[in-house]
Amino acid sequence: MFGTFVLRELIGHIITTLQREAPGTWFIKFQGENGMSQDQLAIHGGAPAKQRPDPPMYPGGMAIDHEEEAAVLEVLRNKHLYRYTGPYKTASKVEQLEKTFAENKGVRYAQAVNAGTSALICGLAALGVGPGDEVIVPAFTWIASAAAILSVGAVPIVAEVDESLLMDPNDIEQKITPYTKAIMPVHMRGAPCRMDEILAVARKHNLKVIEDTAQANGASYKGKYCGTWGDVGCFSLQFNKIITAGEGGMVVTNEEEYWKRACMFHDPIGALNRGFATEELRYGINFRMTEIQAAIALVQLSKLENLVRDMRERQRMLKSGMADLAKQKGITFRASNDPDGDAGICTIFFVESPEVAKNVTKALNAENIGAAMLYERDNIDYHVYAHWVPIIEQRAWAAGGDPWKWAKRDINYSHDMCPRSLELLGRAVHLDCSPLLSNEDVEETLEGLDKVLNAVA
Ligand SMILES: Cc1ncc(COP(=O)(O)O)c(C=O)c1O
Repeated sequence: MFGTFVLRELIGHIITTLQREAPGTWFIKFQGENGMSQDQLAIHGGAPAKQRPDPPMYPGGMAIDHEEEAAVLEVLRNKHLYRYTGPYKTASKVEQLEKTFAENKGVRYAQAVNAGTSALICGLAALGVGPGDEVIVPAFTWIASAAAILSVGAVPIVAEVDESLLMDPNDIEQKITPYTKAIMPVHMRGAPCRMDEILAVARKHNLKVIEDTAQANGASYKGKYCGTWGDVGCFSLQFNKIITAGEGGMVVTNEEEYWKRACMFHDPIGALNRGFATEELRYGINFRMTEIQAAIALVQLSKLENLVRDMRERQRMLKSGMADLAKQKGITFRASNDPDGDAGICTIFFVESPEVAKNVTKALNAENIGAAMLYERDNIDYHVYAHWVPIIEQRAWAAGGDPWKWAKRDINYSHDMCPRSLELLGRAVHLDCSPLLSNEDVEETLEGLDKVLNAVA
């Protein structure tokens, strides 16, 4: 009995002294009185630090309850599914949503549309962006930002992101040409861009600013909502976004002219219904939002503030909980342009290299922590410009309808045109901050981070 105990202690002691030899290589670490494998990485067969996987990262989607159900039922019972007409005299939910959204953001106008991409397209049309124009987008954004620019006949020009993983205002000036018409900052992963600096560059060069706020509904910069700094702001209500209607979008602006143009472009009927002057009329497409979408979005909008509050709280807990370890390991967090304004949807940190990021991510996943990498050269993901192959290779939809042919100069793209962005994104590790993470989840996530980063980073 005593002999077995001594032997177990001895083995435990020997193994405890084994440490990581090189980045990406690690050994099993034993601790405890009787050699129990408390610190063994789950990827090596140890018990996961976290008892259960992260809750699904659909902040608004997971908050859907009887309120959204009742709102949808009301629309169905009223048989009022189309914003302009129905059999009875019931009020339009889309109209109500536009009013409430504008009030929520503190802007004069909001135009509801059927998707975030449509919001960008209408926003660009509102600003008069078209063939021959160039629009600057960041290297890290969903391909829709660039595709929307192409859809109005203009070409996207890609600018570097900085340590905040957002458009670097210093790089914008390098990308401006006599043909630049607008700048499209994107508040990626809930974080606010440096809008004052971006606006200063825009005003200096007489450029328009269209904010892509698809991923940052509820975020703010210096006390003012993201999406309300530029000439127009565009939001998405697609299911992955902070609040959702499954699909949906919104264009906001303080300029009557831009609102009228966005309104007309989104829908030819609306232009007539609103009684715009005949000489103002322009043709429109159909990007209308349905009444069911609006009914859901109205309820979701009422939940936005609490969702953002809860995500911010969890983001703070995770960041402060891992701050010492990060310091010790030389790990830095994504820079924040306004920590109080960040919507809190994630925590992103940079490790030493893409190899370490990959090993950390894999080991965290095994611990039941939903970590993800933001850029891998061989793993196609349309959130990074380097993977926008159809754009980089300038593949047009029709021989004569090619925005790159309409450009006023030769446009050349390459996989490596924003090396700093790829370098940063390649060694970034992303953790979701669901509002449904319990205190226990956060504690266990911190234990998992401790275990993994000590072994792998
Ligand atoms: C940054 C960004 N811009 C635009 C969009 C487009 O939004 P939607 O999917 O609603 O068209 C998305 C959505 O994925 C996005 O993440």
